[in-house]
Amino acid sequence: MPMSVYILGIESSCDDTSAAVIQDTTILSNVIASQKVHAEYGGVVPELASRAHQQNIIPVIDTALKRAKIHKNQLSAIAFTNGPGLLGSLLVGSSFAKAMAYSLNVPLVEVDHLQAHVLANFLQKPDAPKAVPSFPFLCLTVSGGHTLLLQVNDYFDMQRLGGTIDDAAGEAFDKAAKILGLPYPGGPVIDKYAQEGDPDRFQFAISHLPGLDYSFSGLKTSFLYFVRDNLKDNPNFIEENIHDLAASIQKAIIQSLMNKMEKAVKQTRCKELVFAGGVSANSALRAAAQRLADKYHCNLYLPSLDLTTDNAAMIAVCGYFKYLKKEFVNVDVVPYSSSR
Ligand code: KG4
Ligand code: ZN
Repeated sequence: MPMSVYILGIESSCDDTSAAVIQDTTILSNVIASQKVHAEYGGVVPELASRAHQQNIIPVIDTALKRAKIHKNQLSAIAFTNGPGLLGSLLVGSSFAKAMAYSLNVPLVEVDHLQAHVLANFLQKPDAPKAVPSFPFLCLTVSGGHTLLLQVNDYFDMQRLGGTIDDAAGEAFDKAAKILGLPYPGGPVIDKYAQEGDPDRFQFAISHLPGLDYSFSGLKTSFLYFVRDNLKDNPNFIEENIHDLAASIQKAIIQSLMNKMEKAVKQTRCKELVFAGGVSANSALRAAAQRLADKYHCNLYLPSLDLTTDNAAMIAVCGYFKYLKKEFVNVDVVPYSSSR
């Protein structure tokens, strides 16, 4: 038996401070401190996020090591999110990761947040073995900041087939929620209200861009005008129709996502379908993904709900695959804010 690899993963790209310890690809701990400060602003406030990371980072890492029952001297490497994300937030995690790797004299591994969302599908939980996708697979990464359709040929060979030209899918959920006066993040709230709503009650036009690209800004605008016009006639329009409004806008976003995924399945004839990112927690998306997989006789892989949104276990597993390739970085590496 080869010796186990223990990776500490650190995630601080947006508004969640997270640390995880994995043994090879198995999660031993995955601690997430979500920042509540942003809810009242209807979105993430970068300055507040950096400060909260600064407060949370040491307790979160300490808890992750304790829950994993791993001493810091047993760690094989430290993996951290180097981008994309908010610069002030990234600096907190990356500076801490560097200092810790330096003091423990272990390798430092930089991780791209988007690759990590995809590779979250390779994580295992103790005593609950899960099938993992085989290469090549199609992956739709849908989060608050990104909507990316990828053909993944190997762990770090991800070919972009399409993506959003404006808002991300998660952003579309968050903005729709804001229009309805619901708190941030809006995706989970819309998902909840939609459960008891009629998705066919209101129709919203979805964009039909050529190829495999997405656009959500038109949908958001038509939703905004629709709600605004109806409020003029009936000030209680939102309260009286909240479930149907949530279900209808959710249907439009999911349909837009799935149309291009279906097109990609037809184009590539790929039989392995994978979803990743916060929006892949959406119950309607998960059901639509299953229908698509059934229709084309594909295998479907969805991260467990806790691994869809930002977490450090996905950073650790991405770090693990880089560790195996001995892809380390020096302490002078600097975070990047946008995709590269
Ligand atoms: O991956 P993630 O945690 O962060 C980014 O990297 O952006 O994704 C967060 C996004 C938010 O926009 C949130 O509203 C959305 O994922 N989200 C959902 C659901 N859970 C989270 N959207 C729709 N339905 C959900 N159940
Ligand atoms: Zn994310």
